[in-house]
Amino acid sequence: MADFNTLDGVSVAGKRVLLRADLNVPMKDGAVSDTTRIDRTVPGLVELADAGARLVIITHFGRPKGQRVPEMSLKPVADALTKQLGRPVAFANDCIGKDAADVVNALKDGEIAILENLRYHAEEEKNDPVFVEELAKLGDIFVNDAFSCAHRAHASTEGLAHKLPAYAGRLMQIELDALGKALEAPKHPVMAIVGGAKISTKLDLLGNLVERVDQLVIGGGMANTFLAAKGVDVGKSLCEHDLLVTAREIFAKAEAANCEIVLPIDGLVAREFKEHADHVVSDLKAIDADGMILDAGPATIADLNKRLESCETLVWNGPLGAFEIAPFDTATVSVAQHAAKLTKAGKLLSVAGGGDTVSALRHAGVDGDFSYVSTAGGAFLEWLEGKVLPGVAALRKN
Ligand code: 3PG
Ligand code: MG
Repeated sequence: MADFNTLDGVSVAGKRVLLRADLNVPMKDGAVSDTTRIDRTVPGLVELADAGARLVIITHFGRPKGQRVPEMSLKPVADALTKQLGRPVAFANDCIGKDAADVVNALKDGEIAILENLRYHAEEEKNDPVFVEELAKLGDIFVNDAFSCAHRAHASTEGLAHKLPAYAGRLMQIELDALGKALEAPKHPVMAIVGGAKISTKLDLLGNLVERVDQLVIGGGMANTFLAAKGVDVGKSLCEHDLLVTAREIFAKAEAANCEIVLPIDGLVAREFKEHADHVVSDLKAIDADGMILDAGPATIADLNKRLESCETLVWNGPLGAFEIAPFDTATVSVAQHAAKLTKAGKLLSVAGGGDTVSALRHAGVDGDFSYVSTAGGAFLEWLEGKVLPGVAALRKN
C-alpha cells in the first residue's frame, strides 16, 4: 500500500471531502435488496465524519447513459445509507451546479451529504474535463473508495484524482491490500480457482494467471473445453469446441511458466439441466453420449481439498459446477468450505471475487470466512487479467 496516498495522517476537519463510493447496489421493488456495498462503505464514512469532515458522497446507480431516468435515482440508496449510518444524510437532486452547491455549502463539520446519480450526466463516463471541474468545485480533497468502479476511466474515478489532492479511501485501501497479498506479492504456493461457463470471456484472465500462480484449477463449464482439448469426449456437456486450439495454447503457456493446470478427474453427469436431475458419478473416460457434466465429482473434490492443504494463497473466481441447482453445487460448496476452514485456522490466505463468486460463497455459507471477498465484478476480473485499473493508477504516488 506504500504506493498510494491513504487517509493516514490527513487532517480532514473542516474540509469538504468529495468521496467516490460504489453504492451501485441491487434493488428490488424500489428498495435496496442487498446492502453489502453500503455496509462496507459505512465505516470509512463514519471515520471521516467523526474526524470533522464535511463529507460529500458521489456515486452512480445503473446505466442511465446521461438521462435523468427516475428509476435510477439514488434517493432509495440514500435512504438505505441513512438507515445504516444512523445519522442524517442530506440529498442533492443533482451532482453539480446550484442544487449540489447549496447542499454542500450547508454542511457543517461532521455532516454528510450524497449527490444524485453521476451518470445522469453523460460527461461522467466521458471523463469530461469541464464536468471534472464542476465536481471539483464541491470538494477540497478527493477520496476514492470505489475499487469496484476503478476499471472505469470516468470523471469521478479518474479525472478528479488529477484535479484535487487524492487519497485512497479505507475500503479501497483494504481491497488493494487484500488483492496485493493475493497476487502481486503472494506467499507461494499460490492456487487460483477459475470456474464459470466459458473460457471465451476469460482468456486474458487465464493468460495472466498462468504467469503468476503455481496451480491453476479450472472448473465449471469451462473445464470441459480444456478436457475436450485433451481428447476427452465430454458428451453433451457445455463446451466451446471452437476454442480447443486456444485451450491448447493455454496449456503450453502454463507449461512454459511452470504452472500446473488442474482439471477435474471425475464429474456428476446428468441428462437434463435441472434441480435434482438424475445423475451418476462418472470418470472422464466413460461419459455418456447424452451426458452433461454439471459438477465436479467426489474424486476431484478430494484432490482439490488435498492440494489446498499445501497452498499458502488462494484466488478464486467462478463456481466449480452448476451451483444454482442442487446437488450440482456440491463441489463448489465442499471446496469453499474447506478453503474457509484452512483460512480460519490461519493456514491459507483466501481472496475471492467477481460476479457469481460472491453468491456461490454465500450459498456455501462461507463468504464471511475468506480472508477477503471482493464485491467488485468487472474491476476484479480486470485485476485478475493483470490490467492497469485507471481509478487505481490515478491514485498512485508519482
Ligand atoms: C459494478 O456494479 O460493477 C460497478 O458499480 C460498476 O458499474 P458499471 O459496470 O455499470 O460501470
Ligand atoms: Mg459491472
